[in-house]
Amino acid sequence: MDDTNTQMHNNLVIVQTEDGSNTIFNNIIGENYHSKHGALQESKHVFLESGLKYYLDPSFLNFSNISILEVGFGTGLNFMLSADYCTENKINLFYTGIEAYPLNEVMIGQTGYNGFITKETWETFIQNYNSALRGSVLINEYCNLQIAPIKLIDFENDQQFDIIYYDAFASTNQPEMWNELAIAHTIKFLKPEGLFVTYAITGNLKRMLKALGCTIQKAPGAPGKREMLRAFKMV
Ligand SMILES: C[S@@+](CC[C@H](N)C(=O)[O-])C[C@H]1O[C@@H](n2cnc3c(N)ncnc32)[C@H](O)[C@@H]1O
Repeated sequence: MDDTNTQMHNNLVIVQTEDGSNTIFNNIIGENYHSKHGALQESKHVFLESGLKYYLDPSFLNFSNISILEVGFGTGLNFMLSADYCTENKINLFYTGIEAYPLNEVMIGQTGYNGFITKETWETFIQNYNSALRGSVLINEYCNLQIAPIKLIDFENDQQFDIIYYDAFASTNQPEMWNELAIAHTIKFLKPEGLFVTYAITGNLKRMLKALGCTIQKAPGAPGKREMLRAFKMV
C-alpha cells in the first residue's frame, strides 16, 4: 500500500445510514461512500433498479451476457447486488470496477453487507477480492469480476461496456471526477446504445453528456434526492 492509500485507509470509519445499512465515511474527502438516507436503498434504487434492470427490461429475452464498468468500486455493494440478480436470472455478468484506493477485505467484511447478499456471492466475493485486484476472477458460474486498482483517468481498456455505474464522490468534494476530462474519458468505454447511470444530476453533467453524443433521461432519485440521471450513448 502506498502512502496516499495508507493515509486514506486511516481516515475511514464505518457509520450507519437511515435504512439501517452501513456505509463508510471518508474523513479526508468528508463524505460517505453512500447516501446517509440509506446505503442499501441507494445502491438498489440507482444502480440495480434504475440501471441494470432498466437496461435489461425492454429486451430481456435477448440478453445472455452483460458487461458493467463501475467507477468507484469501494465496498463492492453494487457489484454484489448485480451479481445476485444476474445469477438468479442466468445472465453472464462481466464486471469491471475501477478503484483508486481499494479497501482491504477486513473493512469490507465489517460493512455487514452479508445480510443483504446471498451467502454464496458474499463468500466468493470476499475470498476472491484480492485476486480480482490483480486480474479477472470467476465469482460463480455466471459472474466474472476484475477491479483495476488505479485512478479513473489512468484506466485504459480495449473493451466497451453495456452499462457504466458512475459512483464517484460528489462534485462538491471531488470536482475532478465530474469535469469534462473525466466524463469524456468514461464515455469512451460505453458501447453505442449503452447506459451511463449515476445518482447525481446537474446541468453541467447533462451538457457534457449531450456534447458526447448521449441522450439524457431524468429518473426519480433515491430517497433524499429528487432526481438522478440516465444517459444512453447514441453514437
Ligand atoms: C461514493 S464512493 C463509491 C462507493 C462504492 N460504489 C460502494 O458501493 O461502496 C467513491 C469511490 O471512488 C473512489 N475514488 C476516489 N477517487 C477516485 C479516482 N480518481 N478514480 C477511481 N476511484 C476513485 C473512492 O475511493 C471510493 O471508493
